Amino acid sequence: PHGRITKICCIGAGYVGGPTCAVTANKNPDVSVTVVDLSESRIAAWNSSTLPIYEPGLWEQVQGARDGGADRPQNLFFSTDIDKAIDEAELIFVSVNTPTKTMGAGAGLGSDTSYVEMAIRKIAQVATSDKIVVEKSTVPVRTAETMREILKAIGKPGVHFEVLSNPEFLAEGTAIRDLLAPDRILIGSLLNDHGLQAAAALAEVYARWVPRERIITMNLWSSELAKLAANALLAQRISSINALSAVCEATGADIDEIAFAVGTDSRIGPKMLKASVGFGGSCFKKDVLSLAYISECLHLPEVAAYWQSVVDINEYQKDRFTKRIIRCLYNTLNNKKVAVLGFSYKKDTGDTRESAAISIIDALVAEGAKISIYDPQVLESQIWSDIEKFKGARGDVKQYVTVCKDVYKACEGAHAIIVLTEWDEFSNKQIRKRMDWQRVAESMDRPSFVFDGRNIVDAGKLEEMGFRVECIGKPGSGWFKG
Ligand code: UDX
Ligand code: UDX
Ligand code: ADP
Repeated sequence: PHGRITKICCIGAGYVGGPTCAVTANKNPDVSVTVVDLSESRIAAWNSSTLPIYEPGLWEQVQGARDGGADRPQNLFFSTDIDKAIDEAELIFVSVNTPTKTMGAGAGLGSDTSYVEMAIRKIAQVATSDKIVVEKSTVPVRTAETMREILKAIGKPGVHFEVLSNPEFLAEGTAIRDLLAPDRILIGSLLNDHGLQAAAALAEVYARWVPRERIITMNLWSSELAKLAANALLAQRISSINALSAVCEATGADIDEIAFAVGTDSRIGPKMLKASVGFGGSCFKKDVLSLAYISECLHLPEVAAYWQSVVDINEYQKDRFTKRIIRCLYNTLNNKKVAVLGFSYKKDTGDTRESAAISIIDALVAEGAKISIYDPQVLESQIWSDIEKFKGARGDVKQYVTVCKDVYKACEGAHAIIVLTEWDEFSNKQIRKRMDWQRVAESMDRPSFVFDGRNIVDAGKLEEMGFRVECIGKPGSGWFKG
């Protein structure tokens, strides 16, 4: 019963919903795409010239479709009128947040699907015509079953709902690039006529710009689990390389050389093998814990323990790095100024969810350090809201932390610089648009340390300037280099 899609609604105007719909609207000028959200301020920001998220290339995508132009229609809308957008659409993306549960059974492990359920109930109440309902949010496997039940129980008689799974694989910082040229589009459906027709209708939307062979269809449950599996395997690679970095630090081997050597094996491949202070972001920890919890609930404790260890190594990595900083600074940070360069969980995003910076700064503040933070994109208000939850701080956290708009101000008089995000401007490997490390060297207290949690600096060059440099998975300045 599903012909060509002409109207799409997306519930949730976040990091996934916003960019995905902007690209979908650009590539389907004859389809009207309306993104709705409960948050009025978020929608207002999407309708303004200051978008609510920072993402390279996003503005061009949004502006073209949202504002229209001589050669193109206006077909991207941001609205808080959720009911209207749902009722008008033939296809509805559900792209709301599914954070880790904070209370009840599975607290701290399982995913909280209450926002998904709320959105589904809304769809069921409002819809007066058939809808294809598409899960975009990452959800526990078999969530589509729950969705089908609710839609059937609440929906108006005669209205048919078909549920699809269509997980999004974009990474922040490269969202637009990932959306324009995805490795694959995954669509899961029931394998009956209704299901296959709905999957085909959604495939048509993507086929406007994605080669057919990259649009993969499969059963609903495989599609749901594939999203969790992909994030778990990616996170597992990072924990594996980070676990090896600890062995490197204890032996004199170099983790970047290890990653290069193993990455040339075509069975392993070079990507996602960059040792770091630990992975962050809204997905990896949440999804690995969700997979572990699902395994636990399925009475598979060995499987749960395996995936749990991926998160455990990540926590260990952050802790190990913090301890190394304290040790190198002669076991006391009391009243020492420490500059933190980078607060987002990776470069080219202003997102700080699960950023390693948060727990590391917490630990350093607990040691009595005075922290100055510089990040080129993260809003100062975001930093304060992340660190006000500190457990370690004594008294008002503002006594210990300052946020700087200028990298040189952040580093002035510091005993140590800690690089926590791999922003290009912190690297000293090229000169253009990079910070002036010589200038920084002259303004710091001595001995001046650099702790590179991202392995982006050329340690040799910094050592020539007088710095002592400690990188992840490499012998530090104190090592005998033969
Ligand atoms: C392995 C490494 O591949 C090789 O680079 C190294 O030099 C020696 O160890 P090998 O043990 O001969 O080689 O074979 P391999 O093809 O890696 O398989 C090892 C085992 O894993 C086999 O039992 C194989 O059946 C199993 N395997 C392999 C799987 O179960 N799944 C796979 O996807 C691949
Ligand atoms: C991830 C997945 O990549 C994406 O497919 C999924 O849709 C959402 O989750 P994202 O979290 O945005 O995307 O970024 P990603 O580039 O995967 O990085 C996640 C974290 O791992 C970051 O903190 C990053 O710095 C870290 N990382 C990544 C490493 O430490 N080493 C690496 O080699 C790669
Ligand atoms: P993601 O990274 O998965 O995109 P975000 O937290 O950035 O997650 O965005 C999710 C968005 O979904 C938020 O803006 C939130 O306000 C919105 N949202 C959550 N529940 C609902 C709902 N029932 N109806 C409409 N919007 C919702």
